[in-house]
Amino acid sequence: MNHPKKRIAIFISGRGSNMKAIAEQVQHGILKNCCEIVLVFSNKKDAKGLQTASEMGIETAFIASKGKKRQTFDQKVIDFVEPLHLDYIILAGYMRILSPLFTRHFAKKIINIHPADTRLHQGLHAYEWAFETKRKETCITVHFVNEGVDTGEIIAQQTVDLNGVQSLEEVEMRGLKTEHWFYSEVLRDLFLEG
Ligand code: GRF
Repeated sequence: MNHPKKRIAIFISGRGSNMKAIAEQVQHGILKNCCEIVLVFSNKKDAKGLQTASEMGIETAFIASKGKKRQTFDQKVIDFVEPLHLDYIILAGYMRILSPLFTRHFAKKIINIHPADTRLHQGLHAYEWAFETKRKETCITVHFVNEGVDTGEIIAQQTVDLNGVQSLEEVEMRGLKTEHWFYSEVLRDLFLEG
């Protein structure tokens, strides 16, 4: 069957390693036939991922969120992305809590990756939590974004073995390695379904 390619924007605030992993799959891999990255967007001008995206030939933009009220900022972002006719907004390290205005506007169109099982740990510092509580495994979660923080419907999860880890860096390394292939696989399945 011939599926129309989904138009996606990836939202980042920093390093952008998940954005890069997805972009590589769009350019040469499993996402090649199912989506196009219309924009990489950041709420921070100096997000390292913006430069990475631009070096990969992807359109980038930022609107500074600092000092702006959540809803005021989100309305600006809505106005900016609306003409792009996005099918999905992919959050990848976007460190800004979205207002209900935004989540309702794009209901069931915003997806996030969280480095823990969202039923056990929400919010920041998920790898620290896994390390400090000495978990034998953690569980990367890709989920829809609703009005809460990491409370949206779970799309897919992938466990990461943490046996024998000695440091937080090692937990992060193992987790990110999984995040980088898992996010693209989940997106591919979702885009081909929808
Ligand atoms: C990742 O661990 C992701 O799961 C979380 O924030 C981190 C972003 O890393 N939401 P990067 O910017 O993709 O490298």
